[in-house]
Amino acid sequence: MKFFLDTANLEQIKEAQALGVIDGVTTNPSLMAKEGIAGKQNILDHYVKICNIVDGDVSAEVISTDFEGMIKEGEELAALHPQIVVKVPVIKDGIKAIKYLSSKGIRTNCTLVFSAGQALLAAKAGATYVSPFIGRLDDNSTDGIELIRQIVDIYNYYDFGTMVLAASIRHTMHIIKCLEVGADVATCPLDAILGLLKHPLTDLGLQKFLEDYNKLNK
Ligand code: E4P
Repeated sequence: MKFFLDTANLEQIKEAQALGVIDGVTTNPSLMAKEGIAGKQNILDHYVKICNIVDGDVSAEVISTDFEGMIKEGEELAALHPQIVVKVPVIKDGIKAIKYLSSKGIRTNCTLVFSAGQALLAAKAGATYVSPFIGRLDDNSTDGIELIRQIVDIYNYYDFGTMVLAASIRHTMHIIKCLEVGADVATCPLDAILGLLKHPLTDLGLQKFLEDYNKLNK
């Protein structure tokens, strides 16, 4: 299972890269705005900065909602850096754009997925990744992990090559549950990844080891 970092914050990306367990980065227009990145050239430059920090795929999202606009943006984004994966929303023109971009050898991440039917169309169109948003489903009294399980089963049953990228992860248990149901990738905030390290018995155990060592080695 791969771990992507779900942020456009360069410091966090550097920190996660230094940890050595990160396989890529996902961004979206909200995450870019959160970092104050505005203006087309600044946005494109920011994607290149991210690619230069991390080893692995970097999802960059189109903002057009029509086919022509999406493929123009997609081609421009893909030309920025070989690590770029073009993120496209699962709408009618988005599916057409994913089909077109995949036929040109451009990798895509189909985003804003909330149902198995949407995931089916993304896979049929040849998306490299599909991004079901589990946290936003949970926020709306629907089991996000169950959707991941369903999509993983469907893709395995029909041998689709699209990878399931669990997105909108809120906490460590989302990550563990994604592992259990076979997601290919989990894209997570840094806090959720670091949260996997936390255990009071680790802290207590380490404290005791150091106390015992220090008793005889002052
Ligand atoms: C990443 O690909 C998604 O855009 C992101 O995980 C959405 O997360 P959110 O629901 O916390 O905004």
